[in-house]
Amino acid sequence: MTVIRKILPTERSLYRAHLLRLDRADRYARFTGTLSDESVARHCAGLDWSRTILIGAFLNGELRAAVELCSDRILWPNEAEFGVSVEKELQGQGIGSILIRRALTVARNRSIGRVHIQCLAENVRMRALARRFGGRATLECGEIAASFDLPPPNQFSYALEALEDGAGAFNSLLASFASGATDRVAA
Ligand SMILES: CC(C)(COP(=O)(O)OP(=O)(O)OC[C@H]1O[C@@H](n2cnc3c(N)ncnc32)[C@H](O)[C@@H]1OP(=O)(O)O)[C@@H](O)C(=O)NCCC(=O)NCCS
Repeated sequence: MTVIRKILPTERSLYRAHLLRLDRADRYARFTGTLSDESVARHCAGLDWSRTILIGAFLNGELRAAVELCSDRILWPNEAEFGVSVEKELQGQGIGSILIRRALTVARNRSIGRVHIQCLAENVRMRALARRFGGRATLECGEIAASFDLPPPNQFSYALEALEDGAGAFNSLLASFASGATDRVAA
């Protein structure tokens, strides 16, 4: 069962483990550059939860895909950026699309008017996703910078995020009961 929900600050180590499982090419694509294991760990340790929202896809309790939405009310008012990662075995199944759509809803509900993403020019999947969500892309030194303009929040966007948060919590509980039941049967 795949559960899509926000990642809690106490689950930082799950995010680190997910990023460390990305293969070399995907890690390069995610960070648009080479990052050592230590740098990935530093990136996760340095997450500032007051300006970062992580949404993840959990498969059998393991975090296998995530979107990281970062904003800074003082330095970058009304704007944010995100990075997204889906482990190889789960790519091409629509998970990246779901995570990006959710991140854009969350950003919109924080009154963020524009969201940016940076990706490599050869990243056809990410470019397809940027087009799909109406991103305006420009090529800069071999990298694509795409930006998404968001409308102001409304009752529907608030309700959507609330419903999805509720569904995520409920499905998480179901998944943990189901895996507990499986463990008991196996024991
Ligand atoms: C980019 C990434 C997040 C996409 O996630 P995903 O779950 O595989 O994406 P989805 O299955 O939702 O969608 C893939 C899109 O690429 C398209 N696509 C797949 N293969 C393609 C190809 N060879 N050529 C062109 N488009 C392709 C699909 O049609 C789909 O577009 P659509 O929704 O308009 O139909 C994932 O591949 C990944 O994690 N890559 C490594 C990290 C990375 O590149 N991050 C982005 C920069 S931060």
